[in-house]
Amino acid sequence: MADAVVDTVTPVPVAVVGAGPAGLMLAHLLGRAGVETIVLDTRTRHEIETTHRAGILEADAARGLVETGVSDRILLDGHEHEGVELRFGGRPYRIDFKKLVGASVWLYPQTDVFIDLAEARERDGGTVHFGVSDTEVLDITTDAPRVRWTASDGTRHEARARYVVGADGSRSMCRDLVPEGRRVRYGKEYPYAWFGVMAEAPMSAPELVYAHSEHGFALISRRTETVQRMYFQCAPDEPVDAWPDDRIWETLQARVAGEDGFRLKEGPIIEKTVLRFRSFVQEPMRWGSMTLAGDAAHTVPPTGARGLNLALHDAKVLAGVLLRALGSEGAAALADYQPRALQRVWRAQNFSYWMTRLLHTAPGDTPFDLRRRLGELDNAVGTRAGRTFLAEQYTGWPAGAHD
Ligand code: DHB
Repeated sequence: MADAVVDTVTPVPVAVVGAGPAGLMLAHLLGRAGVETIVLDTRTRHEIETTHRAGILEADAARGLVETGVSDRILLDGHEHEGVELRFGGRPYRIDFKKLVGASVWLYPQTDVFIDLAEARERDGGTVHFGVSDTEVLDITTDAPRVRWTASDGTRHEARARYVVGADGSRSMCRDLVPEGRRVRYGKEYPYAWFGVMAEAPMSAPELVYAHSEHGFALISRRTETVQRMYFQCAPDEPVDAWPDDRIWETLQARVAGEDGFRLKEGPIIEKTVLRFRSFVQEPMRWGSMTLAGDAAHTVPPTGARGLNLALHDAKVLAGVLLRALGSEGAAALADYQPRALQRVWRAQNFSYWMTRLLHTAPGDTPFDLRRRLGELDNAVGTRAGRTFLAEQYTGWPAGAHD
């Protein structure tokens, strides 16, 4: 197939596989510096826009969207949150980000980040091909890598690039191009998943609620004034059909119940999905002329909402490195990417793992495990060091501490 005839051949400095937040943000940042890209995705724009993902952006990432000219819609439609609530043992505990570490986060769904980035690419004349198939990445160990794909109309195309970026998500095919003997895959599976729902109901709490009970975890988030996003811990192979609305509400209410009488406001459930997750990192993040960004290189469990933020951080670091590589420094500049991206990746891996295990119960947990976890939760909310740790990790790390 590699040598089959193609309908068009286009030279481009950077070809990007994957039009999620990492790929599009990278293309946007390069575009601002006058560097053209071709971005490809097997999914249609509509498919990406309608797949629900996480909802929390670090303040730095939110600022990045506004200040680099993606969009200022986040300032109008997003909500700044200065804390979260943890609930366990039937009691609420507020973690005050502003007071503890002078930071905040923004509630703004990933689908909206995608919509803003896709519109910005369109507005700025960037090239993004959605709904492609048969993507091939060739010659990445040379300085003339190529990407080939079939467009949605059946025509076949080739981009001749100087650098290729694999930003093709958690089922990345780009990462498989790093030879098996030269890559390491680190990972961890969890014995639970999240049951995610969208409910047509009023807000139940002003801030996000992360709840732990002996029955497991629940998270109360939101999308709009009238649509709420909630999750609760379930088995990885949980059948969605086994969950009529009233069973979902009963489960959620039991997990957030407490002596303060807190109750969720109920309404019709308009979407139900079981979301499986794992921890994963592949190193190296660069092979020859190809670099990996976002979920293609690393995924985290959703607790603590680090995934989107990591993807945007990769894009920022990689844009700077690629601009240097395309300038006088050449490919040697790529060596700076992994160390600068990976420190944050492993910090986030640790935090996501920690927060996941802190709030969930696992099958086979002993009475000691359950009681010890309450001790850990008490440390997290009941000591200044514990609260500060949570606040600093959740809001992202101060700029400059990691770059
Ligand atoms: C949301 C998802 C998360 O994983 C999280 O930690 C916080 C919020 C959300 O979808 O709103």
